[in-house]
Amino acid sequence: MLVIWISKFYITTPIYYVNDKPHLGHANTNIIADILARWHRLKGDNVFFLTGSDEHGEKIERAASKAGKTTKEFVDEEVNKFKIAWKKLNISYDYFIRTSDANHEFAVKEFIKKLNENNDIYKSKYRGWYCIYDESFWTDLELKNSKCPECGREVEILEEDAYFFKLSKYQDRLLDFYNQKKDFIIPEYRAREMINRIDKGLKDISITRSAIKWAIQFPLDSNQYIYVWIDALVNYISALNWPEKEKFDLFWPPDVQVIGKDINWFHSVIWPCLLFSAKIELPRKILVHGWWTVNNEKMSKSKGNAIDPIEITDKYSADILRYFLIREKPLDEDGDFSEEKLISRINGELVSDLGNLIYRVLSLAEKIQSAENIKFEGIPELNDKLDINKIDNAIENLNLNLGLSIIWQFIRDSNKYINEKKVWELEGKDLSNALYNLLESCRIISILIYPFMPETADKIAQQLNTKIDFNECRFSEKQFMGKIKKGDYLFKKIDKK
Ligand code: MSP
Repeated sequence: MLVIWISKFYITTPIYYVNDKPHLGHANTNIIADILARWHRLKGDNVFFLTGSDEHGEKIERAASKAGKTTKEFVDEEVNKFKIAWKKLNISYDYFIRTSDANHEFAVKEFIKKLNENNDIYKSKYRGWYCIYDESFWTDLELKNSKCPECGREVEILEEDAYFFKLSKYQDRLLDFYNQKKDFIIPEYRAREMINRIDKGLKDISITRSAIKWAIQFPLDSNQYIYVWIDALVNYISALNWPEKEKFDLFWPPDVQVIGKDINWFHSVIWPCLLFSAKIELPRKILVHGWWTVNNEKMSKSKGNAIDPIEITDKYSADILRYFLIREKPLDEDGDFSEEKLISRINGELVSDLGNLIYRVLSLAEKIQSAENIKFEGIPELNDKLDINKIDNAIENLNLNLGLSIIWQFIRDSNKYINEKKVWELEGKDLSNALYNLLESCRIISILIYPFMPETADKIAQQLNTKIDFNECRFSEKQFMGKIKKGDYLFKKIDKK
């Protein structure tokens, strides 16, 4: 019997609070995950790409009552804003989880029971600083100028009966784990930030609240509700129908969990310790990205400065936004968004490099494809300029920005080839050789850019009458005779504002 080994690739995004509408920051996280999911699908992996919505908690309860709706009505409506945005941006998720789903609630309760079986839960009194906005508790030491260190808002003292999880018990095990798996948190300096904080001593965390009603009931005490962050983290296993085994065994553990730097503590410290306690294998990689700002300020609903990814998509295109967010900065760094920068990338790289290459090559090819004794064949001279392994390594190492720049260098080299060879002046065998090289380059480019810009890749493949097939991502014996149909320019130059 022939056994074909297909690797699985499980990738997750954070689940978004539905009281906000999707902004550029959220789009950025999902675009990163989408590119990785598409790259792995292209390579033939069995991909499970998860995104979703975080629907419980006080913030959402308040937003609903402000809107004059029941909380359930409110979340049912709000969640669509995310689904619409992801559709516009071509986010190819396989499953959208909502924390108000019945099977999620069930899994959360089962998860708590597991922690309890392991003697990791106890009842005590909680007293501490609480930021309603971030739904986070802070110690005196952590506060910044007596305010929430995350968002700068006022915090309030909260004292109540609560159940605690023995986070402290796992301090050494977690540090050992980090030590053995140096690439667990990417980039590495984000691991160092966690270690510095852990070295000050991990404290147990309260995992229930008594005041909130819009939350999952705590299975060990009906007067208590589960703290929203614990509920939210469990989405990564409940989406695989845990504790049922079938799907879970197929995809667990996540190969990459994409998150923003603000929620690294939850994902790289609390989440692994919860998994230790539940005796579930840890994720393979946590990819921590930086933030997008506007005029160097944090984007937020209250400041009213959030960039709407749907507006940008309608004005330019989903591919343009996807390209810009990945090309403009290395993933881990922060970056300041402006339309001027976006326009300059459109004019400089999308129009002049990619658009121009495709238009020039297809114009030349279309003109001669009906000529009788010309064949598109020759020696793959441009092959030397292409290193697929280097691109694959960059993407496998989660350096999308580098992967895209290597692809771009190949696009530029292909344009250079046209100019240096003066292809428009060539005839006979020389012409057929040059066009073979250029058509094959365009076809390979369509495959390589597909995860980043799926619509553009499809347009190129259509004009060439070829398919986006990773197995064919190399110079080969393709014949394009009689099949090429040049389309419009892929991108239009935009006047500077
Ligand atoms: N609900 C939690 C996540 C729970 S996951 C178990 C949450 N939601 S969020 O909607 O506030 O943020 C989700 C993601 O968006 C985070 O990864 C965050 O870093 C990202 N971004 C929010 N604003 C951002 C920018 N301005 N720039 C880049 N990403 C940012 O946290």
